[in-house]
Formats: sequence, C-alpha cells, structure tokens
Amino acid sequence: MEAYLLDWANLLLRWLHVIVAIAWIGSSFYFVFLDSNLLAPTAEDLKDKGVDGAMWAVHGGGFYHPQKYMVAPKGGIDSKLHWFYWESYSTWLSGFALFAVLYLWNASAFLIDKQVLDWSPVAAGFTAVGLLAAFWFIYDAICRVFGFRPHGERIVAALLLGVVALACWLATHLFSGRAAFLIVGAMLATAMSANVFFWIIPGQRKVVAAMTSGRPYDADALAIHGKRGKQRSVHNTYFTLPVLIAMISNHYGFLTSHPQRWLVLFLLMLAGALIRQFFVQRHGWHLGRARHPWPYAALGVALLLGLVAWLRPAPAPAAAALQAQVGYAELKPVIEQRCQSCHGAAVQMKNLRLDSQALLEQHAQMVYQQVVVTKIMPLSNATQMTDAERALVARWFEGQGAAK
Ligand code: HEC
Repeated sequence: MEAYLLDWANLLLRWLHVIVAIAWIGSSFYFVFLDSNLLAPTAEDLKDKGVDGAMWAVHGGGFYHPQKYMVAPKGGIDSKLHWFYWESYSTWLSGFALFAVLYLWNASAFLIDKQVLDWSPVAAGFTAVGLLAAFWFIYDAICRVFGFRPHGERIVAALLLGVVALACWLATHLFSGRAAFLIVGAMLATAMSANVFFWIIPGQRKVVAAMTSGRPYDADALAIHGKRGKQRSVHNTYFTLPVLIAMISNHYGFLTSHPQRWLVLFLLMLAGALIRQFFVQRHGWHLGRARHPWPYAALGVALLLGLVAWLRPAPAPAAAALQAQVGYAELKPVIEQRCQSCHGAAVQMKNLRLDSQALLEQHAQMVYQQVVVTKIMPLSNATQMTDAERALVARWFEGQGAAK
C-alpha cells in the first residue's frame, strides 16, 4: 500500500512540477525575449513618460505594446501591478517534494549506490540537502564578489563552470548515478529560485515601496536593485537548459551508469548553456546589436554529437549469440539472489514479481531492457549483479525470442 501511494504522490507531484516549471520558464523566457527586443522610444509622448524601451508584438489576434521603465514611470502605476514569483516558488517546492518522495523516502534504494559509497541513508539524505544550500552560498558569494567588477560576468561564468564541474564530480562520487544527476540539477535549480527569493523580489519590493511612499526618492540609488535583479535573472536563463537536461537525463541508465558520468553530466549541461546563449544572442542579432550566434549552437551540438560517439555501446561479442541457450534453471539462482529481495513474494517493488518461470517469461522484455540495456536494475546495483550475470540474462532473453 505504501509503495502504491508513493507512486501516486510521485505521479501527481511530477505533473504539478512540470506544469509550474513551464509557467516559470515560459514567463522567464518571455521577459528575456522582451528585454532583448526593446528599442529606445522615438515617439515624444513615450520619452516624456520616461520609457526606456518599447516594442510591438502581435499574438492571438491582438497587438501588444509593452514598455519598460528602468525604475518606474514618472506618474506612478495606475492599475494592478503584476508580480512574478509564485511560478518560481511553486516549481522549487513541488520539485523538493518530489525529491523527498522519491529519493529521501527511499534513500537506501535510490540515493545510495553501495559500490560508489556505502553510507547511511540519513547521512546521504542530509548531505544531498546540504549540497543544495552549499551551492547557493558559493554561487551567491561569487556574484557578490565579482558580479559588478570589470569583466565581472566573464569571471562569474568561468568560476561557475569550475564549481559546477566540481559539483558533478562530487555528487557522482557520493550518490547513485541517477540521484547524482538529479541533485546537480537541483543545486542549480535551487540557486535559480533563491535568486528570485533573496534578490530579485526583495529588490523589486524596495523600489515599489519607495515609489509608492509618496516621498521623493533617489532613482539612481534604486537602480542597483534593477541591475542586480537583471544580473540574477540573466544567470537564471543560462541555468534553465542545463537544469532541464540534468533532470531528464537521469532516466537514462546508459548515461548515469557510465564510469565517467560526472563528465557526461557536465558536458550535457555545458551544451545546454551554449545552446541557450545561441537563443539569447539571436534576439540581439535580429536587431543588428550582436553578431550571429551560430558558433554557440554549433559548439553545443558538437558536444552532444561527441557524447553520442563517445558513449556508443561496445559491439556485443559475436560468440555470445552462438553459445548454448540459457534455460530457466540456469537463470533462477541469479534472479533469486539479485532481484527477489525487491521483486519476490515478500516485497514487490513497482508491483513486479519475478519468483517463478511464468512470471519471468511474462516480463522478459522488460527485464532485458532494465538489466541488459539500461542497467537500471538491480536498482543502484544494490544486490551487486555482475556483468557475467547480465550477459546470462541477455542470452536467456535471446533464447526466449528463438523459442517463440
Ligand atoms: C533494491 C531493490 C531492487 C532490486 C534488487 C531490483 N529491483 Fe527492479 N525495481 C525496483 C524499484 C524500486 C523499481 C521501480 C523503479 C522506478 O519506478 O523508477 C523497479 C522496477 C523494475 C522494473 C520495471 C517495472 C516497470 O513496470 O517499469 C523491472 C523490469 C525490474 N525492476 C526488474 C528487476 C530485475 C530483473 C532485477 C534483478 C536483476 C531487479 N529489478 C532488482 C527495485 C529493485
């Protein structure tokens, strides 16, 4: 019953998480697009109002004319002011809840891979959560120290690349491959939400408070909030693609089980950041403000193709196919030893039992997929299945096909 309810919690939280993340990233991409396409106004009435940039757009049958004020319009704001933060907060909250249901609840199965590090579920759980906070503190310190120096953005970018590479290495040496990918993604995602929570929104609140106080205020002094908010929001846009690839790539065993998986993850995320740069710079290129960004896309795609080539499976030894067929009798002890603690009479993870010939044959395709192709099973290789035993499953499965 517990496993059944957890499955529901998992499904519903995942659904919620994807929906709110779409809302967040959608609005964030929209504002990046907007900012990159604003033109200094030429019309006198806009200049008089203090507009810094404006654009025209057509969507869904209507025409839109957004205008940007760096601090605030001179005449104040005369209707409802919309804020954008719940998209971000609900993405983080639903993501953390999903992480708790999936990884913290079942830490010994999902978070820990004894071949990577044999430690207690409690220690692993606290470490995972601690890493989320640690990344934020390091990233925030880098931004505070270097963010507004000359070439600050480049220094921040270079340092962050180093910190993220280190995070990939560390996480894959502490947790199961699957959990490590997710945790690195969650580290960046936590920093994104923290940017909104600790800097962007408080800065905006200060500006709005000054504007609506009725007292005169120093617009130049307030501009720092706008600048800092913009800086963090630009970082967020470069984090999005890397975070998304980290979160979805953890479902692919050929990535998360690779011996150099930290580098696999890092290169995937780097490709994501480069591709995002392509899209951001493309807005500027359309207006003749920036060079064509094709080198970023080319580099990102080249990295991905390089990964495809690097990770290609070794050709199966031809001899294996010619070996004698493997029968149930030969496979039974392997399944008993490696699978039945989780898929037997007592415990049925994912409602799956493998403790008879009929059951095993019924699920043959799925077993082959999980044990031989993706190597996701046994989960985190908790039961320490050997490569020879996986080869045995492969030969048994091929024999199944021949028998039918
Ligand atoms: C430590 C516990 C554990 C061990 C050992 C284990 N499994 Fe699993 N298995 C699970 C869990 C948990 C899931 C669900 C994973 C998920 O949904 O992401 C699962 C899912 C599966 C699935 C997918 C079922 C579906 O409906 O998608 C298959 C097939 C499977 N296991 C086969 C095996 C085989 C074969 C072995 C032995 C070689 C094995 N498992 C060993 C825990 C285990």
